[in-house]
Amino acid sequence: MCGIVGFTGNHQAAPILLDGLSKLEYRGYDSAGLAVRDGEHLAQVVKAKGRLSNLSEKTDSGKALKGNCGIGHTRWATHGEPSQINAHPHVSGNCERSGSGTVESEVVGVHNGIIENYISLKKKLESKGFEFISETDTEVIAHLFEYYYKGDIMDTMIKVINRVEGSYALGVLCVDYPDQFIAVRKASPMIVGLGDEENFIASDVTAILKHTRDIYYLEDNEIVVLKKDSVKVYNTDKEEVKKEKFTVDWDVSAAEKGGYEHFMMKEIHEQPKAVSDTLNSVVKDGAIDLSEVGLSEEEIKEISQIYIVACGSAYHVGMAAQYVIEDLTRIPVRVELASEFRYRNPILDPEGLVVIVSQSGETADSLAALREAKQRGIRTLGIVNVVGSSIAREADNVFYTLAGPEISVATTKAYSTQLIASYALAVQFGKVREQITEEKYQELIAELKTLPDKITKIIEDDKERIQWFAAKQANARDAFFIGRGIDYAISMEGSLKMKEISYIHSEAYAAGELKHGTISLIEDGILVVGVATQAALFEKTISNMVEVKSRGAYL
Ligand code: BG6
Repeated sequence: MCGIVGFTGNHQAAPILLDGLSKLEYRGYDSAGLAVRDGEHLAQVVKAKGRLSNLSEKTDSGKALKGNCGIGHTRWATHGEPSQINAHPHVSGNCERSGSGTVESEVVGVHNGIIENYISLKKKLESKGFEFISETDTEVIAHLFEYYYKGDIMDTMIKVINRVEGSYALGVLCVDYPDQFIAVRKASPMIVGLGDEENFIASDVTAILKHTRDIYYLEDNEIVVLKKDSVKVYNTDKEEVKKEKFTVDWDVSAAEKGGYEHFMMKEIHEQPKAVSDTLNSVVKDGAIDLSEVGLSEEEIKEISQIYIVACGSAYHVGMAAQYVIEDLTRIPVRVELASEFRYRNPILDPEGLVVIVSQSGETADSLAALREAKQRGIRTLGIVNVVGSSIAREADNVFYTLAGPEISVATTKAYSTQLIASYALAVQFGKVREQITEEKYQELIAELKTLPDKITKIIEDDKERIQWFAAKQANARDAFFIGRGIDYAISMEGSLKMKEISYIHSEAYAAGELKHGTISLIEDGILVVGVATQAALFEKTISNMVEVKSRGAYL
């Protein structure tokens, strides 16, 4: 989960880049680097393993790196161990390396994503005499740029992206362009920030929000050339592209911790508001209004099949939605991991609806799945949090969740709002398709409206009980989450959170399936969380809970 920031303007670049990178620290990283140009000399590159503070120390908080144009990067190792050599930026062309580790170089690049054909490109470049010093896939970009460079930065970038396969957000500084840089993206997020006599790129808007809220979203393979007083976006035919300016409507404080120790804790507490805002965006005068989503009653009636496609927690939303949608609408629902869907040549009913669920709207597999569906002519609906993100822009219809910025990588409030969006769709589809009565419809809407207060009650009233329980179980090595029906779907999310946040091994099981083998893992003291919220399944789930308890589980 790497981060990119780029700046050109009238101020010294390095402190701005360091500050921007610090806003991306939450995404996790193992090393960081900066490249800055002062208008006369080659780009100076400084890198450090470990915390951003190491890089800051090395550069005297950025003050030691003179120059008003530069790019910065935080790296999360994918190819090669975390080290100073493997950290970005990577360099090519004439380089001068000083004993202190600072490098001056003609071509400097930072990259997020994965270059899938880097091994064959590396071989080719090595045969042409290029020397590789890192184990990264990114280094091929710097050398490829140098290899193709004949004086025109645009021509070179076009040649580079024609040769590389995979996903990328790239920022490149080049010898003959001292006060500007060039950037491009494909299936990896990058935005352009538009300031007054200064311009930016960033992999996430939070990195530059302090300086500007006016941004461009780049489409795949749009190339942007940034100077302090101009931003020009081109397609791969070198034609200038007219971009629409978006203004980010949340302010810097929304991306600060606001007194909480962690973003995740803050965002857990923001759930009642996020859920309420999302509900209020579609519940009007006692009815669910999907006009902004853009689905008419006729279109809803024609849907033959729903395919929900997503990754991670968003996939678990799909699992929960499947139970609710099938129950209330009798439309068959299939839920799929986007990383499977995109590669498996799926059979899709032309009258079907593909629903892509994504907080960021940028998750590479989810975006690819959306494109796959669109290519097959199937209607697509995005349930998306980030306004203007790729999935939001490309889907035929969009249901925006109003969770606000979610900084924590592990989703919480966005997950809750995705459930709300799915439930709202299910209730409305059920009503339009005459599968539920007006009375039931009203009852469900009223019940949905009680959720924000219920969530508040759980978070506030049960805080001490939750803390007590967590403290007691913090040393657990294995945990199981069990439930039936929608409780099973919720268990999947509980289990994922347990793994991702506490690093405790955990599994989710459909409670009735446990007996088919896995129960042998339940022994003295193993933590089992039983979820039993469904009246119709309550006794069945309780009997599974009794089974695990009798084998010694801590239930
Ligand atoms: C994962 C996050 O990396 O991405 C999950 O840890 C998230 O919390 C998943 O659900 C999918 O992300 P998105 O942005 O497509 O919802």
